[in-house]
Amino acid sequence: MKWLEVKRAEPFEFSCDKIASDKSISHRCAIFSLLSDKPSTVRNYLRAEDTLCTLEIIKELGARIEDDGQILKIVPPQELGEPDDVLDCGNSGTAMRLFCGFLSSTPGHFVLTGDKYLRRRPMRRVTQPLVQIGAHIDGRDNGNFAPLCIRGERLNSFDYESTIASAQVKSAMILAALKADDVCTYTEPELSRDHTERMLRGMGANIESWDTITVEPMTRPLEPLDITVPADPSSGFFFAVAAAIVPGSRVKIENVTLNPTRTEAYRVLQKMGARVEFEEKESRYEPIGDITITCDGKLEAVEVSDRISWLIDELPALSIAMAVADGESVVKNARELRVKESDRISCVINGLKACGIECSETDDGYRIVGGDLRSAVIESCGDHRIAMSFAIAGLLADMKIKDTDCIDTSFPNFVELLESLTEVRVWR
Ligand code: S3P
Repeated sequence: MKWLEVKRAEPFEFSCDKIASDKSISHRCAIFSLLSDKPSTVRNYLRAEDTLCTLEIIKELGARIEDDGQILKIVPPQELGEPDDVLDCGNSGTAMRLFCGFLSSTPGHFVLTGDKYLRRRPMRRVTQPLVQIGAHIDGRDNGNFAPLCIRGERLNSFDYESTIASAQVKSAMILAALKADDVCTYTEPELSRDHTERMLRGMGANIESWDTITVEPMTRPLEPLDITVPADPSSGFFFAVAAAIVPGSRVKIENVTLNPTRTEAYRVLQKMGARVEFEEKESRYEPIGDITITCDGKLEAVEVSDRISWLIDELPALSIAMAVADGESVVKNARELRVKESDRISCVINGLKACGIECSETDDGYRIVGGDLRSAVIESCGDHRIAMSFAIAGLLADMKIKDTDCIDTSFPNFVELLESLTEVRVWR
């Protein structure tokens, strides 16, 4: 088990073009490349445990990958093969849910599994709507928990109204719709991250999105991807919080996706009193540019209760900013946090309590009264975002974090970058 100790930092200036590449977009690059009959070119693919598992899976399905260490060329097979082993999604809910949609309509027998955390996460949200349109999927608890067995079939068209704003559910259903027997529609209660729609449209798929998403089935293979994966705003956000809580500091995160469904947490930080500047530099599939965060004064408490799906992954890090802000911050409508890589409501609150912060859980969120962080020993709960959030808290009061191997699932160079800000110790 890897421990991490982070020491209190002096104010810093940090400009970084090495933030981990976007995880959501990387998974999609690998999976969507199978929808073309020509090779896709992917620069800056995220080389972290989660997304490397996804590459292994597409190889098992017959893709060939040429990798010069910088650029991946993904050559799709003429016909997808039936793998001779189970497909391991590692820690990734995104991979498992997207593959459910993709494989449900691919002829063959497939078994999806993952690590002990993923095997505890609910899959009914994708398996149920897929079964309703003719998919053959089964798993423990009536198709709710992996391992999931899938027998791919041609699926029926559908008009599906989702009760949750989830990009993973939406993406699974869009992937199913591309191979369905007629035009499909999908509605969600509030727009969730929309990389799937943007990327598939860029590949030539007929997908229209207004209040409802309309997907026409593919009549021929899509065009290949030619993409440079931008930096991940949720990984960059750890450093944004770092700048916001250490007065007199400044961080610039370069070449990050500025997709509004991904930058909401930065806007909350702005509302709390940090200076946040967005500079768009290019647009290909998505707007991409730099974000600069500076904070001179004290942060103010904030209430976060809407557009939750736009900042769900950043809430653990945001809670560190809330813990040092003036006043009581509240997070509501975020029950989804309970079924992420860990129960992030409990893990955040237990961690902050260990740091001497007054805070409490509610069913769908938490309240945090800002104060002075005290040095503590923190349980990561095996969750990368909990581990990295409390590592950032260490910039204000020395922190020891237990069980930090999980950081490799999304941000393998996190510790190396943190070393540019302060003294860090790692041991086993
Ligand atoms: C993701 C969607 C989000 C997010 C996850 C990645 C994606 O989950 O929390 O880390 O790539 O589609 P939901 O689909 O549950 O909103």
